[in-house]
Amino acid sequence: MKIVIIGSGVAGLAIGWRLVQAGAQVTVLERGQPGAGATAASAGMIAVTAELADAQVPEIEFAHYSNRLWPDFAAQIEAESGRTIGFSRSGALILAEDAAAVSRLARQQGGVLVDVPQARALAPLLTGDFAGAFWAEHEAHVDSRALGSALATAFRKAGGKLLTNEAVVRIERDGRSPAVRTPFGLYPADRVLLAAGAWSGMIEDTPIAPVKGQMIALAPPPGLALPGPVLWGYGVYAVPRGPHLLVGATVEEAGFNTKPTREGREYLRAHAARLIPASKDWTLADHWAGLRPRSPDGLPLLGPSKIEGLWLAGGQYRNGILFAPAIAQTMCDQLLDRAAPIAAFDPRRFA
Ligand code: GLY
Repeated sequence: MKIVIIGSGVAGLAIGWRLVQAGAQVTVLERGQPGAGATAASAGMIAVTAELADAQVPEIEFAHYSNRLWPDFAAQIEAESGRTIGFSRSGALILAEDAAAVSRLARQQGGVLVDVPQARALAPLLTGDFAGAFWAEHEAHVDSRALGSALATAFRKAGGKLLTNEAVVRIERDGRSPAVRTPFGLYPADRVLLAAGAWSGMIEDTPIAPVKGQMIALAPPPGLALPGPVLWGYGVYAVPRGPHLLVGATVEEAGFNTKPTREGREYLRAHAARLIPASKDWTLADHWAGLRPRSPDGLPLLGPSKIEGLWLAGGQYRNGILFAPAIAQTMCDQLLDRAAPIAAFDPRRFA
């Protein structure tokens, strides 16, 4: 089976890697560099509890399935690429600002309520005001930038072809078989998979819209230990990565504009200072924005489109890193005719 994948974010690369391992002939076309879009912009959270409190059942089940796949997925990527990706199952603490928030968190699954001293024992930098916290020990995070480049290496080493700086112009059809046109050539395929994140709709008519998220990286003074767990509270999350604490994220309808703004930076700094009071004096090391791909019902699109030969893997919205191993598995199985689409995620649900 000859498959062309458009997009080399975590989804396109992980699916391509699984397909090559299963014996398919795979070419990935990337308009820039691998993993440089939403994958690099993300904080790398595998937020199976914190991000899915109000999610629908199929999404929660998919998230738990993917979370279980993550340790082996990470170990295989590291073994096959020869690179580390910083996978850490260090849990997450979700702060409750008042008694009402504690009652809401008490109804949440996937962790336990802890009091303020217990929360501070897990993350001593939590010196601000809060009423309690939810400790979700199954949460994890990964260095999303290391992940993108390690996946690209693993994919290439397995025999996949990754062509960078080669933007897709359009998908052409000759009878039943699709082919992908770029400025440099025409790539015929048995099946084409569109996995171009928020940009998918620019290539084919798909109901995926960009949602901007700004992030900052704060550098603490030398010698200060960053928290191990991911921290959530006061409208932001904080994730340790190397010497920095990443703080995110805004949620903005701004089209394809990825320019960081002063308002975004001030919002993130002010809220980070409520979560971790000491951070108000830390140096701003970086500030960037990425685009999350969102579908109209908030659920991913994973499966065949209504166009013969064209398949979609998109609409992950806030869960692109969490869902990656499960998306790789289901899309590999579907593209090789070994599994049917998950009904709730079937792209053909949209007229
Ligand atoms: N998953 C983190 C975010 O969307 O901000």
